[in-house]
Amino acid sequence: MTLPPSAGGAGPPLGTAPTAITDGEFNHIRELVKSITGINLSDQKKALVVGRLSTRLRHRKLGSFGEYYKLLQDAREGDELQMAIDLMTTNETSFFREPEHFNILGEHIRGLRPVPFPFRVWSAASSSGEEAYTLAMVLSEVLGSADWSVHGTDISTRVLERARRGLYPIERSAGIPQDLLRTHCLKGQGKHEGMFLISRKLRQRVTFSQANLIQPLPRLGPFDVAFLRNVLIYFEPPQKKLVVEAVAGQVKPGGLLIVGHSESLTGLSHGLTPLRPTVYRVP
Ligand SMILES: C[S@@+](CC[C@H](N)C(=O)[O-])C[C@H]1O[C@@H](n2cnc3c(N)ncnc32)[C@H](O)[C@@H]1O
Repeated sequence: MTLPPSAGGAGPPLGTAPTAITDGEFNHIRELVKSITGINLSDQKKALVVGRLSTRLRHRKLGSFGEYYKLLQDAREGDELQMAIDLMTTNETSFFREPEHFNILGEHIRGLRPVPFPFRVWSAASSSGEEAYTLAMVLSEVLGSADWSVHGTDISTRVLERARRGLYPIERSAGIPQDLLRTHCLKGQGKHEGMFLISRKLRQRVTFSQANLIQPLPRLGPFDVAFLRNVLIYFEPPQKKLVVEAVAGQVKPGGLLIVGHSESLTGLSHGLTPLRPTVYRVP
């Protein structure tokens, strides 16, 4: 049965999802996302919200974003809320992204006399694991079989699942130097054709867990170095300051905190010692 186009108040045809969101609905969803993740969605992000959440509306057979917002507020819908958060996060990442930081890490470790073991590095906001495994490749080069490890955290459970698997499309290996690719990555075969797998030896050194940087963090440290890259851009200055303090609070005195190239901490009173742009020492 099809309703005539003039049928007032009717939702979209079944099987499709609304492509329009009212200002009120957008503001509700924006506030919800901000209160949970700290991510600040500008007015320009309306299309992004519609694009990313409409599959959920379709799946739940809902006719409007208002109905979806109501659903997300139901305490029994925790899984749906996590799915919405997963969809609202931007998880872009790559192996050896902003490669200078990995040289800095190597130099920092070579300058330590003695290296404090166990040596632990944190990839805070690790996304699907590329940053954490890059760190592990570097640590393996510099520290060999000594006692070192990497821990990755993210708010999104969807990317953490991918991170734990350590299986990536072959195109994503482009940033990995050939010698490291040969040592630490295995070419997928059979059903994994076109993919590569991080070697078990490296995966054993890398763990992942969920952590929300804007909520009180579990005790994860102490770490020798924390990478907090390409996540601060989503937060407003007061939130950014709290996150920097919380992450730095889990780094040992004298350890490093490294932020993304486009994420200046200028203007934030954070108490860290700037060593070079984007690289800070924890006092
Ligand atoms: C653009 S990725 C950055 C990944 C990696 N650090 C890099 O530089 O390539 C940003 C990540 O931050 C995560 N994120 C956003 N808000 C967060 C929060 N409040 N707590 C923890 N992670 C968060 C997202 O899920 C996403 O995976």
